[in-house]
Amino acid sequence: MKKNLLMWDESLFRDPEVLEIDFVPEQFEFRDEQMRELAFQIKPGLRGGRPLNTVCKGLPGTGKTTSVKKLFAEIEETKKKLVPVYVNCQIDNTKFAIVSQIYKKLVGHFPPSSGTSFKQVFDAIARILIKDDIVLLVTLDDANYLLYENEINKVLYTLLRSHETYEGTRIGVIVIISDMDVDLSRALDARVVSVFRPTDIYFPPYGDAEIREIMKARVNQGLFPGVLSDELLDLVVEQTTRSGDLRVGIDLLKRAALAAERAARRTIVREDVCSAYEISKYLHLNYTVKTLKDEERLILKSLAEQCSQEREMNAGDVFKAIKEAKAIGYTRFYEIVKKLDAMRLINLQYREGKGRTRVITLRYDPARVLEYLG
Ligand SMILES: Nc1ncnc2c1ncn2[C@@H]1O[C@H](COP(=O)(O)OP(=O)(O)O)[C@@H](O)[C@H]1O
Ligand SMILES: [Mg+2]
Repeated sequence: MKKNLLMWDESLFRDPEVLEIDFVPEQFEFRDEQMRELAFQIKPGLRGGRPLNTVCKGLPGTGKTTSVKKLFAEIEETKKKLVPVYVNCQIDNTKFAIVSQIYKKLVGHFPPSSGTSFKQVFDAIARILIKDDIVLLVTLDDANYLLYENEINKVLYTLLRSHETYEGTRIGVIVIISDMDVDLSRALDARVVSVFRPTDIYFPPYGDAEIREIMKARVNQGLFPGVLSDELLDLVVEQTTRSGDLRVGIDLLKRAALAAERAARRTIVREDVCSAYEISKYLHLNYTVKTLKDEERLILKSLAEQCSQEREMNAGDVFKAIKEAKAIGYTRFYEIVKKLDAMRLINLQYREGKGRTRVITLRYDPARVLEYLG
C-alpha cells in the first residue's frame, strides 16, 4: 500500500474555510444599505439604552445571517456593556432552549436542563442584567420556526416586557424571517405587538451579476488560481441562480473541488460541477431533515411513502394512515403538517370542494426525502 496517504497534500484549496456555508466573509458587498439600517437600530444599545427592535426579512441566502453576525462581531470588539446573543431557531425552537442560549452567553455554561423552569432561567438572566448593568440584544434567526405552538409570542413577550417585571432591564430583539409568506404582524398577540414595534429591513434576492461577483470572490479566496475556469464559473453561477440560494453555490464549489482532488486533477472539470450540483441542490432538504424531531420525521416519512403513489394527498387520509402506526391526535398531527409546510418541505393548500379540504404535496422527490430521512 502507498504510504502517507493522508500526508500527500496537493490541495486545490487555498483556504478551505472560505467554502463553508457558515463562513462569515471579509468581503461582503451589496448589503451596505441593510447593514447601515441595522447599525442604526443597534446603536442606542451602545450608549446604554435599549436597542430598537428589528425584523429582517428575505429569502434564504440573501445575507441576513451574515449581516447580523458581522455587526455582532463589531459589538464584541467594542467591549461596551451591550451583549449580543445569536440564536438559531431552526435548532433552538422552544422558549426554554432560547433562554438557555442567553443564559449560556452571560454565564458561560447552560443552565441545568432538568429541574429548572423557564422562569427560573429568565430570573437568573434578569438578575445578571441588572447587577452588571448589561444591555441585551437577542437575534432570533429563522424565527419562522417559532411560529408553531405559539413559541414566538411567549419568547417575545418575556424579552420585550421584562422591564415591567424586572425594573432596569433593557432588551432589544432582531427577528429574522426567511419565509416570505409569513406575515409576522398577524402571528403576534396584541400584547406583544404593543411593545415590539419593529422596523422592517428587507433583503432582496441577489441578481445574476451580483451572484457572479460573490462567487468569483469566493473562488479567488478559497481555491488556487486556475482551478476553476471562467466557463465553469458561469455554470456554477447558473446553477446557483437556479437553486435560488447562494449556499447551494458555495457548497457546490467545495464538492466540485473535492471531487477534482480525489481524482488527482489540478483543475475542476464540468463533470465535477454537475455531480456536485446533484448533491448540493438538496442542501436545504438535508439540513432541515436533520433538525426534525422523531414524531415529525415519522409524519414526513409517511407523507413521502404515500406521495410515492399519488402526488396530491388529502390531509385527512394521511392522518388515518399515520394513526394506525402511531397514537397521535389530529391537532398534534396538523401542527406538525403546518410546521413541515413552513419549513418548505411540503406544500399545504386549502381547496374549496365539499367543505374545505386540505391538500398536501411534497416539495421534493419522495425518494429523495426517504433517502435523507435514512
Ligand atoms: N453579499 C455577500 N457577499 C459574500 N457572500 C455572501 C453575501 N451574501 C451572502 N453570502 C454568503 O451566502 C451564504 C448565505 O448567506 P446568509 O447570510 O447565510 O443568508 P441568509 O441568512 O439570508 O439565508 C453564506 O455562505 C454567506 O457567506
Ligand atoms: Mg440565515
